[in-house]
Amino acid sequence: MSKLKKHHGFGIDIGGSGIKGAPVDLEKGRFSEDRLRLVTPQPSTPEAVAKVVGEILDHFGWDAPFGCTFPAVVQHGVVQTAANVDPAWIGVDAHELMKSVTGRKALVVNDADAAGVAEVEFGAAKGHSGVVLISTLGTGIGSALVIDGKLVPNTELGHLEIDGFDAETRAADSAREREGLSWEEWGARLTRYFQTVENLLWPDLIVFGGGVSKKADRWLPYVETRTPMTPAALLNDAGIIGAALLAHG
Ligand code: BGC
Repeated sequence: MSKLKKHHGFGIDIGGSGIKGAPVDLEKGRFSEDRLRLVTPQPSTPEAVAKVVGEILDHFGWDAPFGCTFPAVVQHGVVQTAANVDPAWIGVDAHELMKSVTGRKALVVNDADAAGVAEVEFGAAKGHSGVVLISTLGTGIGSALVIDGKLVPNTELGHLEIDGFDAETRAADSAREREGLSWEEWGARLTRYFQTVENLLWPDLIVFGGGVSKKADRWLPYVETRTPMTPAALLNDAGIIGAALLAHG
């Protein structure tokens, strides 16, 4: 069976509205079966979320170790922050939780870190050496910093303080929606954000992801940076693929 093949892994992406999972062909960098999406339980407490993760694994009959993303700082498996998730997660050892609830060993990592690793391995930053920043624009702003192919985990650049604000509250896609910003207005916010980031890190390439990256032709012309910017290639699949890859080691 495909799931037992040496080059197959399994990834799960935990988000605010959906929890998605699929077996991944780690050589090709793509799903080996259609993914399954289940609704994130509300409240999204650790136990309730882990149960849904277990249901996804059961659905595919996956009994081996798996990778899992989480939209917060996850330091060696321990969730340290909860900017856009249930605060009950803070301090939870997600490795222990997943093991006890699903019965399988898990590697739990930050969502943007997983997406970044996938983009470097298989997507828009494939083959790039030097300093690559992957930035996900969604409810929050996620960041992954990869240097010569090696991830610096949990960079959290969405929470830089810019003009007295937590940057993601002004420049995330959710801020554009909430404030009804035009593409041009949002582009100006992104310019302020990315110029701050590039003045601190001097990346060689910025890859941007999130649902809104599909509409980059509308807003990218309004974003001014010295660093080349390119849309993510794996889009919604990146988190799952990256988590599976990281878990496989
Ligand atoms: C969180 C990050 C996460 C990002 C995208 C931020 O609010 O602090 O850990 O990667 O949102 O989900």
